[in-house]
Amino acid sequence: MSFRILGTGSAAPKFTLTNDQMAEIVETSDEWIRQRTGIGSRRICKDENLLDLSVRAAEEALASAGVRPEELDLIICTTLRGELITPNHACLVQERIGASCPAFDINVACTGLLYALDIADCYFARGKTKKILIVAAEEMSSIVDWTDRSTCVLFGDGTGAVVLGEGDGLRAVTVHAEGNREVLYIPRGEGKLFDGTVVGEPCCVKMDGGEVYKFAVNAMTTGVQKVCEEAGISPSELDFVVPHQANLRIIKAAMSRLHLPMERAFVNIESYGNTSSASLYIALDELVRSGKLERGMNVALTAFGGGLTSGAALFKW
Ligand code: ACO
Repeated sequence: MSFRILGTGSAAPKFTLTNDQMAEIVETSDEWIRQRTGIGSRRICKDENLLDLSVRAAEEALASAGVRPEELDLIICTTLRGELITPNHACLVQERIGASCPAFDINVACTGLLYALDIADCYFARGKTKKILIVAAEEMSSIVDWTDRSTCVLFGDGTGAVVLGEGDGLRAVTVHAEGNREVLYIPRGEGKLFDGTVVGEPCCVKMDGGEVYKFAVNAMTTGVQKVCEEAGISPSELDFVVPHQANLRIIKAAMSRLHLPMERAFVNIESYGNTSSASLYIALDELVRSGKLERGMNVALTAFGGGLTSGAALFKW
């Protein structure tokens, strides 16, 4: 017995930072950002905190699934950095929504949802799990270098959630890692030794954009091909591909390699930027709420991120 997606939810901060406003912070332009990435604006936590947003997304997903918090058997949170180091973010969400199940975080950068789905698949296979909540919580604005124009323009904040229940929606899931600490990394931040010596580097995104780009296009394409092969369908039979929203050009290149028209990709990067692991949940939630998904459709999810990691999943909706 595997699982299906019973409900989705998402919540983003109210404050919108446009490309023109970004050009007042670093030397850039709306034209450069749009042409290279497809991003027009991003949401930034100003008046909300990450936990409040995570709880909103979780409650929305539970409501749309018709599941009560006390029915949950597990909560997994995907995050680069939750509200605290400990308790983990999933425990904080568990307390706020009033659930009583086990709860833990995973950090697989932007690929979080795919790894969480893979873990969920194992839990459902044990036969004791009936309902799982997966929550994404990402506050990228607190971990970018706001003086580095090559990275700070790319990211935004957001949260999302999915509720899973027993069923046969999942057709295949694959996850992948090729450890590399040079291409994309975030130092854990500075700390002080017993004698006052400051060690470590500030906690902010460091990235070789060109190398990430090459990895991304290849990883997203091969991930989708793999899950299609496992499920015995051709990529041409996919009704929708929901890709990690990192860069419109990456999405276009991957769709072209899959010989699929862009109309089958769900894209919302224009208004959110890259919200790391939350990006897939927010996109999936918007797609579900758009009413475009019909029962029986083939929907692929695909992502890549720090690690370097990547993954893909295929659902029969
Ligand atoms: N505004 C204006 N100019 C800029 C900006 C900016 N914001 N940023 C960089 N430039 C300049 C560069 O300095 C460079 O100038 P130069 O030619 O004089 O040296 C020029 O623009 C071109 O830079 P490139 O790096 O060649 O630009 P490219 O077309 O490769 O696009 C980008 C850069 C958007 C970062 C692209 O490589 C990309 O999207 N890579 C993938 C990034 C990504 O997906 N990251 C996900 C991380 S997910 C996670 O796990 C946290």
